[in-house]
Amino acid sequence: MNDFLYYSPTEFIFGHNAEAQTAEALARHGARRVLIVYGGGSIVRSGLLDRVTATLRERQIPYALLGGVQPNPLDDKVREGIALARREKTDFLLPVGGGSVIDTAKAIACGVPYEGDFWDFFSGKRAVEEALPVGVVLTIPAAGSEASGNSVITLRQGMQKLSLRTPRALRPRFAVMDPELTFTLPPEQTAAGIVDMMVHIFERYFTNTPDCSLTDRLCEGALCSIVEEARRLLHDPRDYGARANIMWAGTIAHGGICGTGRQEDWASHFMEHELSALYNVTHGAGLAVIVPAWMEYIAGEKSGKLAQFARRVMQVPDNGDTLVDAREGIRRLKAFFRELGMPLTFREIGAREEDIPELVRRLHLHKGPVIGAFRPLGPADTEAIYRLACRQ
Ligand code: NZQ
Ligand code: ZN
Repeated sequence: MNDFLYYSPTEFIFGHNAEAQTAEALARHGARRVLIVYGGGSIVRSGLLDRVTATLRERQIPYALLGGVQPNPLDDKVREGIALARREKTDFLLPVGGGSVIDTAKAIACGVPYEGDFWDFFSGKRAVEEALPVGVVLTIPAAGSEASGNSVITLRQGMQKLSLRTPRALRPRFAVMDPELTFTLPPEQTAAGIVDMMVHIFERYFTNTPDCSLTDRLCEGALCSIVEEARRLLHDPRDYGARANIMWAGTIAHGGICGTGRQEDWASHFMEHELSALYNVTHGAGLAVIVPAWMEYIAGEKSGKLAQFARRVMQVPDNGDTLVDAREGIRRLKAFFRELGMPLTFREIGAREEDIPELVRRLHLHKGPVIGAFRPLGPADTEAIYRLACRQ
């Protein structure tokens, strides 16, 4: 196990009608003027925005509103938000929504006190030293941004989708999580969120770091539970218990605990971010296409850990042959993604095989000549994986 520093300051307010505690949480964390950030209108239609703003009015906390954040959020909205927050003298960001909304709020939070262009943080030109505090009301379990120090934004010019990773500055102060808020999710968003959280665990689970049995078991336990609860949700999307487990799993998957003491990978995420930048595909759907292809590509060299995953998570009987079991695990994972209604091929997400050279060029331009750690991947490898993803 590697040495590590694990910092997780977020207060989680979880359960029935948790959103009623939003203003109380804001007050506890010192908010005086709030900017509420939201997406394309799901929280207006569900009445959540009204309920949340009512709690702020009751506590006499002034707020301004910034709506219209789109999935795979763009820099334009961040710039609009920075200008608005400065005009309104905002001192606390309250995103109400999913990863796209939370990430936009985080980018605004570090952009407001900075004199230069906020993109400097994403391009790696500057490190974030100061940011306004962020508190979250989560409406979709998926990206795990409610517990991460990360923000993922796409620069419209060049459609560059980059993630900013700050170990400290951008971790939310609190996250309000009411599983019932997720009842209104379209099935494909529920499913994409489930894939995303599973892959957040894979990115940590598939490691070469030795002596990580505790975190291996944490990862495997969380994955087994996600598969079980996802099946309950397929049967009944209004099953509160299943929604609650899935919601908390999304946080566990990306809050950092599953990655403690081990080298993480992230190649699949980097490969997917190029797809969602180029085709505006839903992040989890893009991952469902990339991850099985990545597993198949590395199976020959990495059959030991893949077989462990197959046996412990996908319930493959131990045949004594790691490669055979690894392949059966991948087959079962693909079948599970299909059960969820997720795509598995380029064609199904509107991606084109003829764009692969461009995807590979952009990927390595943005992420460096070699990506990943479990099996480091150069351009010939990533091209082969994208090609496998056209065919599976
Ligand atoms: O915009 P509205 O109208 O609210 O609709 C949203 C959106 O269309 C809808 N939705 C959310 N909650 C709902 C709901 N519809 C009905 N009922 C509800 N309760 O769902 C759609 C997707 O929302 P989005 O915020 O895009 O989803 P998600 O949480 O999956 O976030 C995806 C973004 O997060 C990034 C992804 O790349 C992508 O840009 N990621 C962020 C990470 C981080 N910050 O740590 C890590 C991840 O790996 C990921 O890359
Ligand atoms: Zn993700």
